[in-house]
Amino acid sequence: MRFYRPLPRDEEINISSKKIIVSKTDISGRILYVNDYFCTVSGYEASEVVGAPHSILRHPDMPRAIFYLMWQSIQNGDNVTAIVKNLAKSGKYYWVTTDFEIHRDDMGRIESYIAFRRAAAAKAIEAVEELYAQLLLIEKKHGMLASLVYLKGYLNERDTTYSEFMDGLVKPKSLMEKLFSLMKNRFYHTSSSNNNNYSDRDREVA
Ligand SMILES: Cc1cc2nc3c(=O)[nH]c(=O)nc-3n(C[C@H](O)[C@H](O)[C@H](O)COP(=O)(O)O)c2cc1C
Repeated sequence: MRFYRPLPRDEEINISSKKIIVSKTDISGRILYVNDYFCTVSGYEASEVVGAPHSILRHPDMPRAIFYLMWQSIQNGDNVTAIVKNLAKSGKYYWVTTDFEIHRDDMGRIESYIAFRRAAAAKAIEAVEELYAQLLLIEKKHGMLASLVYLKGYLNERDTTYSEFMDGLVKPKSLMEKLFSLMKNRFYHTSSSNNNNYSDRDREVA
């Protein structure tokens, strides 16, 4: 099955700081579920993206190394925070901060992932934009392994790890962060008790 690939254009989509963008995938990253706000922001209907690989949103400005580290962490059963530039159906872009929930079956095997996204703070975008551009340039010239080595050096110099670095960028304990955290918990508990019935999706924070 072939999926639509929009032509990127340099126009940003503004995201409400009061809403979350949610998607659920199988273990290979194939989309199983998206909430209404996912559709509003990305411009895709749910029927267009269910069954598609999540890379349908991949923006060419995003280095592969970031997704490599993200997958490494969630496949290991650990949440990770990622700051991601996404490509909408219109070709416009939007920046999000993403957290993951890892769901397991009765045998303890990972069966699906849920991504919760909110608008990325301008400060966080500013901090990663230059780094991502550098990683991308290295990847184009020397491959992903070289960009991972560069990233390791970048983090070592700052005496931090990838997840500490990301957490530091997105975790100032603002009121919004706390409200988001509450909303995410509520979403999670409702969805797990209802199985796949996400009855409180798109609930606004304030
Ligand atoms: C739950 C979940 C959510 C994801 N969300 C995004 C996303 O919003 N944007 C994106 O580019 N990749 C997302 N990915 C990663 C993609 O699966 C993929 O690894 C990435 O787009 C890089 O594409 P590539 O592996 O084809 O290079 C997500 C993966 C999972 C498991």
